[in-house]
Amino acid sequence: MNRIVIAAHKGGSGKTTVAVNLAGALAQLGMRVLLVDTDPQGAASAALGVDPQKPTLYEVISGTAKRHEAIVGTTTPGLAILPSDLDLAGAEVELPRQERWQQRLNEVLTSLDEFCDIAVIDTPPGLGVLSYIALQAATEVIVVCPPEYMAFRSLPHLREMAARANVPVTGIVPTMTTSVSRHAREVLSQLQDEYPGLLLPSIPRRVALQDAALSGLPVTTFEPNSDAARRFMALAKEVRDRAKNIAA
Ligand SMILES: Nc1ncnc2c1ncn2[C@@H]1O[C@H](COP(=O)(O)OP(=O)(O)OP(=O)(O)O)[C@@H](O)[C@H]1O
Ligand SMILES: [Mg+2]
Repeated sequence: MNRIVIAAHKGGSGKTTVAVNLAGALAQLGMRVLLVDTDPQGAASAALGVDPQKPTLYEVISGTAKRHEAIVGTTTPGLAILPSDLDLAGAEVELPRQERWQQRLNEVLTSLDEFCDIAVIDTPPGLGVLSYIALQAATEVIVVCPPEYMAFRSLPHLREMAARANVPVTGIVPTMTTSVSRHAREVLSQLQDEYPGLLLPSIPRRVALQDAALSGLPVTTFEPNSDAARRFMALAKEVRDRAKNIAA
């Protein structure tokens, strides 16, 4: 199973929006998709209309619950979620005291290999313990980058962190790209110059994405004919095709 971590160093970069809607679009393409929420904020769970009931990812990686007890289906066929809630914040302190903690999520996902085609892993802001175990479980990293210099500047740090975990960064998704400021244009042009082979279809700022999250649906289900839905379908096709090429 391909396991894609959606990462950004900076908070509020659009990680959860990309994770939820990429997962929805991949399911729309007929894949069996598991969205894994490794953020104690539980934003990915909320954006799919899931009110996390116990057990959640926290109990699963702490070894007090089985993964099938925590995974829940969604209203989108083919899309399930391993949700999180605030308890996961405690894992930042507790997990490193346990044996083999780095491998916990990796082991959970390995045990799901025959049930899923792809896992999309949403990560919390910053590069702490939870991002670390997400990277340990990943086969590839997709970085989201809004058109701001500080986000662009953090790309080498993320690549370095992924390299240390032996996971390739396979793509960069420019997010919230509608700003017409000169600053935004310059950052986008620097992205094109420095990472031409990594650039994936961009996701502009679209109200449909906020409305879809409020309704607890991926945009491809909420408003399938919207520009945002079309963008996510294009992104999902490219991600699927790249994964096939890597596997070939
Ligand atoms: N392309 C977009 N169009 C419109 N709104 C967006 C877009 N991407 C993100 N947003 C909005 O911006 C805010 C931050 O986005 P999001 O939650 O996806 O970022 P994040 O990187 O996951 O944040 P955090 O670091 O807190 O986890 C949210 O309110 C989201 O609805
Ligand atoms: Mg988020």
